Amino acid sequence: MAQPHGRIFNFSAGPGTLPVEVLEQAKEDLLNYRGTGMSVMEMSHRSKAYEQIINEAEADLRSLMGIPEGYKVLFLQGGASLQFSMIPMSFLGSGQTADYVVTGTWGKKAIEAANMVGTAAKIFDAKDTNYNRVPEFGGLNLTAGAAYVHFTSNETIQGVEFKEDPNLPVPVVCDMSSNILSRPLDVSKYALIYAGAQKNMGPAGVALVVVREDFLAKAPEKTHPMLDYRLQSENGSMYNTPPCWTIYICGLVYKHLLAKGGLKAMHAVNEKKAGVVYNAIDSSNGFFKPHAEPNCRSLMNITFTLPSDELTATFISEAKAEGMVELKGHRSVGGCRASTYNSMPLEGCEKLAEFMKAFAAKNG
Ligand SMILES: Cc1ncc(COP(=O)(O)O)c(C=O)c1O
Repeated sequence: MAQPHGRIFNFSAGPGTLPVEVLEQAKEDLLNYRGTGMSVMEMSHRSKAYEQIINEAEADLRSLMGIPEGYKVLFLQGGASLQFSMIPMSFLGSGQTADYVVTGTWGKKAIEAANMVGTAAKIFDAKDTNYNRVPEFGGLNLTAGAAYVHFTSNETIQGVEFKEDPNLPVPVVCDMSSNILSRPLDVSKYALIYAGAQKNMGPAGVALVVVREDFLAKAPEKTHPMLDYRLQSENGSMYNTPPCWTIYICGLVYKHLLAKGGLKAMHAVNEKKAGVVYNAIDSSNGFFKPHAEPNCRSLMNITFTLPSDELTATFISEAKAEGMVELKGHRSVGGCRASTYNSMPLEGCEKLAEFMKAFAAKNG
């Protein structure tokens, strides 16, 4: 079926595809946002109209994620990458240790930044199997008195995902950049959740931080203003000019997800979508080889290899000719990666799976 507006299926790992309905709403609002006579991009962040936009975005996110009382929601700049530094700078005191679970490229970057600040202990590292697995939370050897434990709920490059929330006796900090809002979660199990917007939430330019107030209270009283969670929290994420447009689009995405039935409904569709593609891998008699172990296969980033680099290149170019793009895998894994974020329609995954089956039959 042809996609609206001549759109194609964009399997990019990020920035990723956005819901058509959201883009249509943004188009309608573009020149004159609901009678204000200006676009959101041109509006003062101190205006009544913008105040309503950011407050509604937060309220809708709280309802979508089931964020309990006692948590602050922040919209910050610097992407998820700045959080790699801000977290240890704020919560890893001298003489303390923070534990890091390294299941892929992003977890590795997070611990590298922490090591520049203080003592970060790598309590799990799947490097020996090229990051194709995740540990059981119960089997982790936590450092006694650790300031926090950090993990990456979904490794975007390797396509490995934790399937449940942790239940650990230390503050849990989680990078959810590539699977936030893809399934229901229990926020109360986390001290701090962060995520770049550009996969499941909106355009690039904002990092969402959900932080428990008692954990936030451990941040230093005074630090550089733009690195100060307290200051950002006290100023409602508006210590300086926020990325107004990005937050507005995130707000539209939250409303869209609520209207679609929330995270439970998204999870059911995401399982179906990823299932269709994994089935094409598993039924290919070894033509396509999955990278991730079966128990941690990501619903968001499906990684697989083909028998040769030549066949991989042909696969990617033939898929592109059929209207399916951004399927090239990261060089550290090789092969292909299909990112099937919330906004990828089921038809996109079905079309990819059919194409994979036909390709394997022709070239296997
Ligand atoms: C899991 C994960 N963490 C962190 C990042 C870095 O995000 P940003 O580019 O917003 O700094 C990414 C980007 O793809 C990611 O996938």
